[in-house]
Amino acid sequence: MPDEATTTSGTDIVPDRSLPAGAADIQIAAPGPEDAAEIHALIAACPPLDTNSLYANLIQCTHFADSCAVARMGGKVVGWISGHRPPEKDDTYFLWQVAVHPDARGKSLPKRMLGNILARQAQGGISWLETSITRTNDASWGLFRSVSGWLSAPLREEPWFDRQTHFGGQHDTEFLVTIGPFEAPAASG
Ligand SMILES: CC(C)(COP(=O)(O)OP(=O)(O)OC[C@H]1O[C@@H](n2cnc3c(N)ncnc32)[C@H](O)[C@@H]1OP(=O)(O)O)[C@@H](O)C(=O)NCCC(=O)NCCS
Repeated sequence: MPDEATTTSGTDIVPDRSLPAGAADIQIAAPGPEDAAEIHALIAACPPLDTNSLYANLIQCTHFADSCAVARMGGKVVGWISGHRPPEKDDTYFLWQVAVHPDARGKSLPKRMLGNILARQAQGGISWLETSITRTNDASWGLFRSVSGWLSAPLREEPWFDRQTHFGGQHDTEFLVTIGPFEAPAASG
């Protein structure tokens, strides 16, 4: 983990001095079930993300709360990361979805939320990040190339869930993106 990722304020590992204006007023935390309805609405407002059922978001906010993060600005949910450790890959964090409301973009929120998650005691031992991206999602490629630089770790990609084989022709091919190995930030509780 590079210097800029050092823990400075509780669980936020991107130092305040490097944040754009207004970004320090955003609170990041593990979600609770009371956040799920707002998270569901945020995802719906962030195409091209697939929406899941609200029930699935409720499960993420309860069973998987330790590996998810929600960001609030002025009390309103503006950011979300869902993820988990894939079974039998104890050193890997799989980031499922990241969403930032258009009003809160450009404030390093994805890296701040990811840093918040990786710094948690429950995520100890993580040195690889996986996610999947469709070829045309420029914002996502831009984001994860930036994360690769931030973590000082190379990014690799390979076709994963195929349009025909896995999606029955109804969804673009998802490329598995792997970033690592990296040194996880110190656990902060
Ligand atoms: C992807 C998303 C989370 C990025 O949030 P954001 O607040 O704009 O991210 P940041 O401002 O912290 O930018 C992080 C990096 O991504 C790059 N980026 C952001 N939007 C981009 C775009 N549309 N095209 C290319 N690169 C982009 C930035 O240039 C930055 O790179 P840098 O650090 O080298 O300057 C946001 O655009 C979003 O919610 N999109 C809709 C949902 C989605 O596609 N999620 C990803 C798939 S799971």
